[in-house]
Amino acid sequence: MLIGALIALMGHSATGLAANVSEGQRIYRQFCVGCHGVGGLAAIPNAPNFSRGERLMQPDMTLMMSIKAGKMAMPSFNGILQDHQIFDVIAYLRTLQQ
Ligand code: HEC
Repeated sequence: MLIGALIALMGHSATGLAANVSEGQRIYRQFCVGCHGVGGLAAIPNAPNFSRGERLMQPDMTLMMSIKAGKMAMPSFNGILQDHQIFDVIAYLRTLQQ
């Protein structure tokens, strides 16, 4: 856990910006909620359940690369969201875990 947190912090400092959770929520509602659902309860088959923390044990940088590149049914957000916006939405995802 500690190592994951440290790597996550390194990911943030690499961007030079602190993540903005409320901006992340806005982005989530616009781009992610259709598949990932309100509160992170998956709206489509095979989407991870973020309210249970599924996939969120990965460092921010790893999640950022997956979202940017796309994964299976998830489209690429390269050119749609900037890296700092993806970090904002990841920070929001981490608030969904109950
Ligand atoms: C069209 C549906 C769809 C949309 C839109 C979508 N996702 Fe996904 N997402 C998925 C699916 C399906 C998976 C599981 C992919 C797999 O099987 O590994 C996934 C996986 C993920 C993962 C886990 C990646 C990993 O490496 O394990 C994260 C984080 C994620 N999505 C975040 C987001 C965010 C943030 C957005 C909005 C910017 C978003 N997704 C938009 C369908 C979607």
